[in-house]
Amino acid sequence: MSLLELDDVKVHFPVKKGLFFDRTVGHVYAVDGVSLSIEAGQTYGLVGESGCGKTTLGRAVLRLNDITDGGVVFDGTDLAKLPGEEMRAFRRRLQMVFQDPLGSLNPRQNIESILSEGMAAHGIGKDQAERREKIKAILAKVGLPSNALSRYPHEFSGGQRQRIGIARALVLEPDVIICDEPVSALDVSVQAQVINLLEELQESLGLTYLVIAHDLAVVRHISDVIGVMYLGGLVEEAPSDALYAKPRHPYTKALMSAVPVPDPEVEDRRERILLHGDLPSPANPPAGCRFHTRCPWVQETKCATERPPLLDTGGGHKVACHFTAEIEAGTVEQTLATGIEAVIATEAVAAEAVETSEGEAPEAGSGTGAKEPATVPAQEPATVPAQAGPEADAKETGKKAPDATEKAEGGPTA
Ligand SMILES: Nc1ncnc2c1ncn2[C@@H]1O[C@H](COP(=O)(O)OP(=O)(O)OP(=O)(O)O)[C@@H](O)[C@H]1O
Ligand code: SF4
Ligand SMILES: [Mg+2]
Repeated sequence: MSLLELDDVKVHFPVKKGLFFDRTVGHVYAVDGVSLSIEAGQTYGLVGESGCGKTTLGRAVLRLNDITDGGVVFDGTDLAKLPGEEMRAFRRRLQMVFQDPLGSLNPRQNIESILSEGMAAHGIGKDQAERREKIKAILAKVGLPSNALSRYPHEFSGGQRQRIGIARALVLEPDVIICDEPVSALDVSVQAQVINLLEELQESLGLTYLVIAHDLAVVRHISDVIGVMYLGGLVEEAPSDALYAKPRHPYTKALMSAVPVPDPEVEDRRERILLHGDLPSPANPPAGCRFHTRCPWVQETKCATERPPLLDTGGGHKVACHFTAEIEAGTVEQTLATGIEAVIATEAVAAEAVETSEGEAPEAGSGTGAKEPATVPAQEPATVPAQAGPEADAKETGKKAPDATEKAEGGPTA
């Protein structure tokens, strides 16, 4: 049995309306039926564009968000059904590292106070002296000097603060760490160091990770398995190498096509798959295949009416598409352009939407967002790989240098 198993997890946020009587007028289907499992000691990388539900899913595992439906089985216990008091005991074993290290550290507490707070709450260490010794050992493990104990978060560089965030999770001796965009707020030069640190800690402490990122390059090397999320659901999941060697879902193909290749000759020949439109609103997701409004291979049959299940196509490579085999065999036609025409069409639709909304009454479409499919997390998938580009190269280069030094981070060292 896997250490962590998610079974058809749904997180639907109610959309309320009304000044005095809160009426539920709709739902944001942030996570809508995700099943995945993570083996002990492994890393599961979860990627997808902004607003597709990654953070909500990570928070749901820790029950920081209410789970609307489904199961989260950790080490044989379904956390989704656990009463609050019993959940407390499991909280220590499942920790989270956040994207914004400064925002997640109380500026008025020194590092010792920040790190010992959770330890005391969970009864780790018989007194403060014992906790201090343990904190010093963990600080050394994450590459921070022991005199960091009496300092405050603002005295550290971004990379060092993320090390403090990691140390805060480690002092509680967790089994699983959910890393939500652990390096996206950091300088490129520091990103590889933090990723290397996570890998080293995993090896020495036997940790299990769920690493969330919008940047394919971040999860590539650290992950055993990668899941690609689109609008609340997984569209593809495969062992990391298999996914990169041969992405099978049209959405993953589009994401991958935008990742620059270091070889200039290959880079020149690289064909970008540009998608039509923006990510639709999770308050009003398209029926059938969630991707059908943008899929270059969308077919008249099934795509708009039947939601494709995530099925194993062999070797643990799972795909949620009705036409995976046919697209690969070339027996179904590409129906939407994937070149610059896609961008022009998207801009034309956006301009039309602006014109229409300017002519509408101001309150039209408000509340659920149901009339504005393009307005909620309006980010093009092209932005995902754009962030994965030059940074990816830098990270790969940085990765080969195992030395996670303080100097490169430019913060206080002694
Ligand atoms: N508490 C909430 N109430 C209502 N809607 C929410 C809430 N939290 C998140 N959402 C919505 O759920 C959707 C998924 O959000 P989420 O933060 O999980 O996405 P994400 O994939 O982590 O995005 P990003 O890459 O930008 O961090 C978004 O449309 C977001 O606006
Ligand atoms: S099911 Fe249809 S719309 Fe969805 S990814 Fe496959 S071809 Fe595209
Ligand atoms: Mg997020």
